[in-house]
Amino acid sequence: MKILFIGDVVGSMGREMVQEYLPKLKAKYKPQATILNGENAAGGRGITEKIYKEFLQCGVDAVTMGNHTWDKREIVDFIDDSKKLIRPANYPNLSRIPGEGITYIKINQQELAVINLHGRVFMADLEDPFRVGMELVEEARKRTPHIFIDFHAEVTSEKEAMGWYMDGKVSAIVGTHTHVQTNDHRILPGGTGYMSDAGMTGFYDGVLGMKKEAIIEKFLTQLPARFEVPETGRKKLNGCFIELNDTTGKAKSIIPIRIDEDTPFFD
Ligand SMILES: [Fe+2]
Ligand SMILES: [Fe+2]
Repeated sequence: MKILFIGDVVGSMGREMVQEYLPKLKAKYKPQATILNGENAAGGRGITEKIYKEFLQCGVDAVTMGNHTWDKREIVDFIDDSKKLIRPANYPNLSRIPGEGITYIKINQQELAVINLHGRVFMADLEDPFRVGMELVEEARKRTPHIFIDFHAEVTSEKEAMGWYMDGKVSAIVGTHTHVQTNDHRILPGGTGYMSDAGMTGFYDGVLGMKKEAIIEKFLTQLPARFEVPETGRKKLNGCFIELNDTTGKAKSIIPIRIDEDTPFFD
């Protein structure tokens, strides 16, 4: 089983990169499942139903979220009817939270479980992602050995710890949220593909996909600043490609994907 994952898609430039390069990436890697993190897809903050449907139309099979899940309030009205859109599984008071933290993608006679978890270090204090995550993984393993986790978290220590904790239990665990791609992709000894962060897709010449000027000014002055996602400029796409053993669900390979003017795409 082959999986393509695209890191945090930020604003219209991120969506344009998906439109432009997803067909090319599919032609090159032939993934059977394409997953992307859409927490910043609508102007950098949240996702709309229109954008979610556009992703599905251009061949995305599942969309994961993160700390920006609820930024566009309309998501509470459509997430329950959007089975391929998941939010982090480890919110407190789950009975009052719309949506799911897990979905299943059908691939011929097989299934890929996709799970979204949210870190706690330097982030909102949600439920324990280790405990909630392992409970979901045990549930998913009754259905399929093919399991992918998007762990949306700030710090590499929490991500590495989660990777080791899940080693041998899931096919792959890839981090999102920092918007900076890490160079630590590997297969852990138990057969789990791991990468601390897939990176982001959007504006190339900014800070985490936003205009750099306001952010530099904030660092210089500590005055409040409005962070904006630009609509024109150079763009990039970040992600990774993972290949699994069809029988065991263990990872055979994981490679980073980076497309920008310094790293051109070759078919
Ligand atoms: Fe993000
Ligand atoms: Fe985030």
